[in-house]
Amino acid sequence: MSLTPQWLDELRARTTLSTLIGKSIKVQKAGREYKACCPFHNEKTPSFTINDEKGFYHCFGCGAHGDAIRWMTEQRGLPFMDAVKELAAVAGMDIPAADPRAAKRAEQAKGLHDVMAAAQGFFEEQLGGIDGADARAYLLKRGISDATRRAFGFGYSPDSRTRLKTALRDFGDPMLIEAGLLIDPDASEPEGEKTRKRDSYDRFRGRLMIPIRDPRGRVIAFGGRILGAGEPKYLNSPDTPLFDKGRTLYNIDRASPAARQTGRVIVVEGYMDVVALAQAGFGECVAPLGTALTEHQIERLWKMVEVPILCFDGDAAGQKAAIRAAMRALPLLRPGHSLAFATLPQGQDPDDLVRTAGASAFEAVLTQAEPLVDRLWNHAVAAGPLETPEQRAALKQRLSEYTDAMTHNDVRAHYVQAFRERHDALFFTRSARQALPRRDSRDAGGRRGQWSKGQWKPPIAPPSGEARVIRAVGTEGVLLAGMICGLLRYPDRIRAHLEVLSALRIADRQLAAIMEKLLAGVWREESVETEGLLTILGTGELYNRAKGLLRADALTFTFTRKDADATRARRDLDEAIRVIAAGPEIEAALAEATRRAMETLDEASLQQQQDLLKLQADHQQRLADLMQPEDII
Ligand code: UTP
Ligand code: MN
Repeated sequence: MSLTPQWLDELRARTTLSTLIGKSIKVQKAGREYKACCPFHNEKTPSFTINDEKGFYHCFGCGAHGDAIRWMTEQRGLPFMDAVKELAAVAGMDIPAADPRAAKRAEQAKGLHDVMAAAQGFFEEQLGGIDGADARAYLLKRGISDATRRAFGFGYSPDSRTRLKTALRDFGDPMLIEAGLLIDPDASEPEGEKTRKRDSYDRFRGRLMIPIRDPRGRVIAFGGRILGAGEPKYLNSPDTPLFDKGRTLYNIDRASPAARQTGRVIVVEGYMDVVALAQAGFGECVAPLGTALTEHQIERLWKMVEVPILCFDGDAAGQKAAIRAAMRALPLLRPGHSLAFATLPQGQDPDDLVRTAGASAFEAVLTQAEPLVDRLWNHAVAAGPLETPEQRAALKQRLSEYTDAMTHNDVRAHYVQAFRERHDALFFTRSARQALPRRDSRDAGGRRGQWSKGQWKPPIAPPSGEARVIRAVGTEGVLLAGMICGLLRYPDRIRAHLEVLSALRIADRQLAAIMEKLLAGVWREESVETEGLLTILGTGELYNRAKGLLRADALTFTFTRKDADATRARRDLDEAIRVIAAGPEIEAALAEATRRAMETLDEASLQQQQDLLKLQADHQQRLADLMQPEDII
C-alpha cells in the first residue's frame, strides 16, 4: 500500500486538530488558537497550543510538536497505519487501494525469497551428505576450511535433472522456474510452435554451489562451479525478479561491515578470490558476477568507501578491464570519490597469490595501488609514440577525452590541471633529452652546446651560481612591498626573521634601503614600534615611501591592513616572508638541477629536476594564495 504525500496532506486538511485533541484532553479557545495543559509533560498552567489553521500543536513548555497523525501515534500510541485509518474514517476519506501490481510484486518476491532460502538449505544439505563427497574433496584440495565453507554457505547440486525439482516441489514449477532454479525447455520456443509440453529440469547439476546474497544477506542467486574441468566453468543464475547481476556484488553483505572496520573495499574478479581472500584475513572483498563493473556497482562501492581498490590481473586482458572500469567511472566522479588500481603479478589471481605467497604478498599489491589520475595518465602516455608534434597532439587529445567525460566541474578542472602539469614535466624532460649535444661539442668553458643546421647553439639554461635578486615588478614586487609594509606594522616579525630578511637581495633601490635600515634599527634596539621605525627612516624619500606603503589601499594582504586581526596578519606575514625568501632559492636550485639533469640524464637527476619543478609550482600557488586571501576581514 502506498499513501502519497498529497493524499496525506488532504487527510490533514480535512481533520480539525482542536476537535481531535479535544476528544482526549480539555481544550480552551484563546484568540485564534486553542490552549490546553500539555499532555506530554506535567503542568498546571497551559502552554500547549493548537493551531487549526496550520494543523499543528506545539507545547512551549516541553517542545512537543506535531500534526494530527503525530497526535494519534504519539499521544494515542497507535501504529501509523491505524492512525491514518482512524483519521480517514472521521474525515470521510477512503484509504487508496493498494497498487495491485506492486502488491503482487511484493508477494511474489516474498515467495521467491522463500524458494531461494529453501534451495540454499537443500544445496548445503547435499554438500554435507553422501553425494557431496566429491565437492567436499574439491574444497579440501582448494584449501577452503570448514569454517570458510560454512561462512560462505557453500553447497552442492547433485548430478541429476530432478533432485531439486522434487525436493522443492511444494513451491510449484512456475515459481522454481521464475527463481531460475529450473530450466523450462519450452520457454525459448516461439509461440505457436509449442507442440508438446516438455518437462522442466534442474539448472544446476553436479556443481559446487556458491550462494549470492543481497546486502541484507538473503540468497538471491547462485553461482555453480564445475568440479574439475568442463564447460562452462561457472554457471550463474539467470536474472530474476530478485537478481540483477549488474546491480549485485558478490559478498556485499559480509564485505560492508568488514569495510567499516578497515576503511577499504577491494574488488576482485572472481567468487573464489573473494573466498580465498576472506580466509586469508581480507574480509572486505567483493566481486562482480562475471561482467565488467557497472555504474550501479561503482555507486554501490562508493557507499562503502570513497576510494575502492580494484584489483586486476597484470596481463593485457586485466589491464584492459582496468581501463574500462576507469572510463566507466569518469562521468560519475565527484569530490572525494575515486578509484584505485592494484595490479597483480602476471597470471596470478588473488586466490593463487595468497595461497602461494601468503597474505603479505597481497597486502603488498594493495599498497602499490595507483590512483585513478595516474592510471589514466599512464594509459594515455603508453597509447602511442610521442616523437612528432602530431603524436604529441594526439596525447593531448586522449587526455581531453578523459576530462571531457567528467561531469563534475571541480573534479574536471583539477584533472585538467594535473594533466597539464604532467604534460609539461614530461616534455620538459624529453626536450632536455633531445637537446643533448653530441659528445664532442663542448664549448671552451666545458659547457655543452649543440650544432643545429650548421649553427652553434649555446646550452639552454646557463648555470647561475649567484642568488637571484627579488624583482620589484609583478606579483613578487607587490608581495615584497606588502611584506615591508607588514614589517612596519609588526616590527616584532623583523626580529623573528632577522637572518632570512638579512639574506634577501632586493632589486628596488628604495625598498632595499628601507629594509637595511629596519634591520639595523631592530639589531640595535631591544623593542621597536612602528613610529620608532619611521623615525629611523629620517624625513626624506625613504620616509615618504614607507608612509606611502602604510597608506596603500592597493595592497590587500591581511598584514598591510590597519584593522586586520593581528594574529592572522602575523601568521600571513610569516608565510609571506618564507615565500619571498624561498623564490630565489628554488630558482637557483632548479637551474642547477636542470643543468645537471641535462648533462647526466640519469634517472636520479631527472627525478630531482622534476621534484624541483613541482616545488616551484607549489611556490607559485603559495604566492597566489597570499595575493588572494579567501576571506577579507
Ligand atoms: P576465472 O576463469 O579467472 O575463474 O574467471 P577463477 O575465479 O580463477 O575460478 P577458479 O579459481 O578457477 O575456480 C573469473 C570469474 O569470471 C566468471 C566468474 O565470476 C569467475 O569467478 N566466470 C568465469 C563465469 O562467470 N563463467 C565462466 O565460465 C568463467
Ligand atoms: Mn582462480
